[in-house]
Amino acid sequence: MTHQLVIVLDFGGQYNQLIARRVRDCGVYCEVLSYKTPIEEIKSRKPAGIIFTGGPNSVYDKTSPSISADIFSLGIPVLGICYGTQLIAHLLGGTVSTAPTSEYGKTETYYDCSCPLFEELPPKGISWMSHTDYIASLPDGFVSAAHTENCPTAAMQNKERGIYGVQFHPEVLHTENGVQMLHNFLYRVCGCTGDWTMKQYAETAVEEIRQKVGGKKVLLALSGGVDSSVAAALLSRAVGSQLTCIFVDHGLMRKNEGDEVENAFKDKEITFVRVNAEQRFLDRLAGVSEPESKRKIIGEEFIRVFEEEAKKIGAVDFLAQGTIYPDVIESGAGDAAVIKSHHNVGGLPDHVDFKEIIEPLRMLFKDEVRRLGTELGLPDYLVWRQPFPGPGLAIRVIGDITKEKLEILRDADYIFREEIANAGLDRSIHQYFAVLTSMRSVGVMGDFRTYDYTLALRGVTTTDFMTADWAKIPYEVLEKVSSRIVNEVKSINRIVYDITTKPPATIEWE
Ligand code: XMP
Repeated sequence: MTHQLVIVLDFGGQYNQLIARRVRDCGVYCEVLSYKTPIEEIKSRKPAGIIFTGGPNSVYDKTSPSISADIFSLGIPVLGICYGTQLIAHLLGGTVSTAPTSEYGKTETYYDCSCPLFEELPPKGISWMSHTDYIASLPDGFVSAAHTENCPTAAMQNKERGIYGVQFHPEVLHTENGVQMLHNFLYRVCGCTGDWTMKQYAETAVEEIRQKVGGKKVLLALSGGVDSSVAAALLSRAVGSQLTCIFVDHGLMRKNEGDEVENAFKDKEITFVRVNAEQRFLDRLAGVSEPESKRKIIGEEFIRVFEEEAKKIGAVDFLAQGTIYPDVIESGAGDAAVIKSHHNVGGLPDHVDFKEIIEPLRMLFKDEVRRLGTELGLPDYLVWRQPFPGPGLAIRVIGDITKEKLEILRDADYIFREEIANAGLDRSIHQYFAVLTSMRSVGVMGDFRTYDYTLALRGVTTTDFMTADWAKIPYEVLEKVSSRIVNEVKSINRIVYDITTKPPATIEWE
């Protein structure tokens, strides 16, 4: 390894990967290790710095996660965060006890700007607190470096030993200049030089995959979404022809999408299997209009097709998935793979013969996955693809599905997407698409009466897709989209724009 390393020691806090991600954002390579990692192992990795994370426990409880105080004798700078800071204080002879007033949320904080963590930052700002214990007395050699109204030690330092701690969470964006504080620790205290890039991340990940997989076979279900596409690109670079990607084209993709996915992967040194299963899906969906039934049918059929193809390949050692970190959080610790799969395709295949699951993206956040995809040479249309539901257009054709309705929707949706891109809005509106309603209404075209479908346009802005606002698309853009669709797509004579937030509506209509 040619780059510097910072170790994030995990004491059970909820923001551990976020800390790691902020360190990576600062251009420093970082790994999250359990607090149980032997000191000798930590030492042998020669980290430039160590960060103790937060955690839900109290340090004076004997069963709480802890570490030998020998870690402070390695001469490696340490930064504690929340519980991590309390632990440092406790291990070095300070006193931690229940705070007279616990602090939660945004808290006005005063910093000593001579402390390297706060150098060149404003002396006052909002920090994000979440603690019921506090440092009642500092260990020998330490001084307070920040305070709030209720917390005399919102940060502490021992400059000579290079040991620092903050009671608040610099990694969350609610803390003003928090990222800069981490940057200061890395650069001013640890002497990091910012020698790490996404290119190196890719190289390290490729090396790790090679070591794990050896000469064995890997199977991946490729949906064409960002995550599975980036996982495929990474695995193909690592193990080449040992990788087989199965792309089940259910015929419910957007216009040209199936071909785009195929084009991105057909020249790579992998076995790429595209299964054109449109007719199978249409047959099973014929006459079904209830949304949950449609979803269920698609999920089951997807698994069936995937299993059939996997059987042709025979036993594989690894089943790869594009699980990313937010999926891991959503599912709770331990069994992320199952949840992700449920979410996307309706369940893990029962009859696929594999020994182990491999998830090369499980430590990355979405925007990091996109950067990695670009680094691996994937085209922008895959890397910047907006989220697309597993059941595809089937849940954007309201009511029963026919091939004809899918074609109408595809053409209209394509125009909408094209005009959003032409207006330069394609990265600021987080998800946008057309919905073919089951409603028909009377219109007039030329001198004739028409009786055609109503198309709905939906555009949302959101950070987490759990809540969303409707996008304020400029009228001129909507006007152009509307006029193009009614003129260029047959069977649509009325267009409406969905102006509901989530909640109470959802993003998709079904
Ligand atoms: P809703 O409609 O629940 O959608 O507000 C939230 C986000 O999830 C996407 N979505 C899905 N994604 N499989 C997926 O992988 C699904 O079955 C599915 N249903 C909805 C939706 O597009 C939006 O981004």
